Amino acid sequence: RTANSLVGQRYLVTAGPTYESLDPVRFIGNHSSGKMGIAIANEVAKRGGKVELVLGPSSIEVKHPNITVHHVNSAVDMYEAATSLYDDCQVGIMAAAVSDYRPKDVSDQKIKKADDSITLELTKNPDIAESLGAKKRSDQKLIGFAMETENLLKNAKKKLTKKNFDLIVLNSLKTEGAGFKHDTNVVTFIGQNKTREFELKQKTEIAKDLVDEIISL
Ligand code: C5P
Repeated sequence: RTANSLVGQRYLVTAGPTYESLDPVRFIGNHSSGKMGIAIANEVAKRGGKVELVLGPSSIEVKHPNITVHHVNSAVDMYEAATSLYDDCQVGIMAAAVSDYRPKDVSDQKIKKADDSITLELTKNPDIAESLGAKKRSDQKLIGFAMETENLLKNAKKKLTKKNFDLIVLNSLKTEGAGFKHDTNVVTFIGQNKTREFELKQKTEIAKDLVDEIISL
């Protein structure tokens, strides 16, 4: 067993978007592809770790014998899967782009076109990362992601504390080639007392840096 090996370790990874149903044919979603989280799952698996991957709707195929994929649609489904799996994991990595709100009522039938304007009432979704953070044991680690458009460092640090993360990965939205759908990203790792900035690189390379960082925590 080398220093890099994750044999005997179990990681929980959330990835992809969530779809919040409005009626049988429509949903509220977001542009997450699931690429970053899947790259992390593959990296953990390559090093011999087991992965419970809770994956929202994503077109990317995942197939590694060490990865068990739990397919979910909504934030509530993702919450239920992730909270039941975390107890048996040493590390949780929250890479999913979870919808903060869902439609308050889901229509059984397709919503008909009628009035010039209609109003949707939304209700708050559970915060998966925050609830895992609240029940995290001393032998567990929890890693979060943040995508901020203003006061990047300050907001990311606030989130680190509020959600009881050991590390937060700050995504840049401003840089060309970074973020949603791309194969590349620009990230900063923010820990309790140190910050590391990285250049634009492949998400598969970021996954290696992240797993190395988690091992060093
Ligand atoms: O507060 P914000 O949504 O920016 O936090 C982002 C982090 O929290 C990400 O790691 C994301 O996966 C996680 N999160 C979650 N459940 C939510 C909202 C965000 O796990 N409902």
